[in-house]
Amino acid sequence: MDDLKPVTDTPAAKPVRTLPDAQTVTTVHHWTDRLFSFRVTRPQSLRFRSGEFVMIGLLDEKGKPLLRAYSIASPSWDEELEFYSIKVPDGPLTSKLQHIEPGDEIILRPKPVGTLVLDALLPGKRIWFLATGTGIAPFASLMRDPETYEKYEQVVMMHTCRTVAELEYGRQLVEGLQDDPLIGEMVAGKLLYYPTTTREDSLRMGRITDNLTSGKVFADLGIPPMDKQHDRAMVCGSLAFNIDVKAVLESFGLREGANSEPLEYVVEKAFVGDGI
Ligand code: FAD
Ligand code: A2P
Repeated sequence: MDDLKPVTDTPAAKPVRTLPDAQTVTTVHHWTDRLFSFRVTRPQSLRFRSGEFVMIGLLDEKGKPLLRAYSIASPSWDEELEFYSIKVPDGPLTSKLQHIEPGDEIILRPKPVGTLVLDALLPGKRIWFLATGTGIAPFASLMRDPETYEKYEQVVMMHTCRTVAELEYGRQLVEGLQDDPLIGEMVAGKLLYYPTTTREDSLRMGRITDNLTSGKVFADLGIPPMDKQHDRAMVCGSLAFNIDVKAVLESFGLREGANSEPLEYVVEKAFVGDGI
């Protein structure tokens, strides 16, 4: 009666569907109900400059790749790739991506691009990283890159979010840098971290634009106001933020540069579609 053997005795072969450009998730950390970070394996051939972004995603219901731009948050020397992500409740990608677990696969197109690279700026004394929300991702890469500290005497990381919890990814990253065996010594005394909140009380408050315009950040950190000769800046936030910060930087005399024409500051959108 072998023919009547219950089918459950034979484990069903799992359908193995390897994604195009698949990479395997190694760790996931949820910071808030709107923010998480994760690490994936790095394609051996992938070379990128700290600050660049790639397209990553998952397959949709029809088996087609659903891809979005993501800044690489890990530095170029890291053997894995790290990403820091929003969770948009009804977002086509992140409504699914927020459920990934170690061992899962994501799609990663290995073609890094972007303007937030050190080569896009003229040499200077001090570099400012200006970010809101997930806009800190490219600077999470640049803050961990030794080249940043070789090129600049001071690195100022201004990060602004509505609440304290939203700053936590950046705060832990900066604190961890002091003890980092690779760049801990380079960072010591050079990296000035200036996190602020706008809708919850914290040690430091206020929008980046306001803290620059009023001069509060310069007074708090004991550094002179920005000038074209010494200061360089990289900006990454919502479109409205980017527009307003550009005006502030221009008021200090800085000019927008690009890979093809390095000047005093560069800008990238942290996301598109905030209604402007
Ligand atoms: P989408 O349909 O893409 O977006 C829906 C709406 O959600 C948008 O209209 C916008 O209002 C809002 N939204 C999207 N992304 C964000 C965000 N990051 N913060 C706040 N609101 C947002 N996102 C990241 O989380 N981390 C990154 O490192 C990152 N890097 C990017 C780099 C570039 C150059 C660009 C252009 C975008 C980047 N984004 C990043 C945004 C990302 O591409 C997606 O928009 C995001 O993952 C949401 O995808 P979705 O399909 O769920 O929703
Ligand atoms: P605020 O709370 O005063 O709007 P969001 O979550 O809306 O993307 O904003 C992230 C952070 O960026 C918030 O602290 C917000 O401050 C700040 N922000 C938003 N728009 C601007 C802008 N145009 N200029 C400066 N800061 C901004």
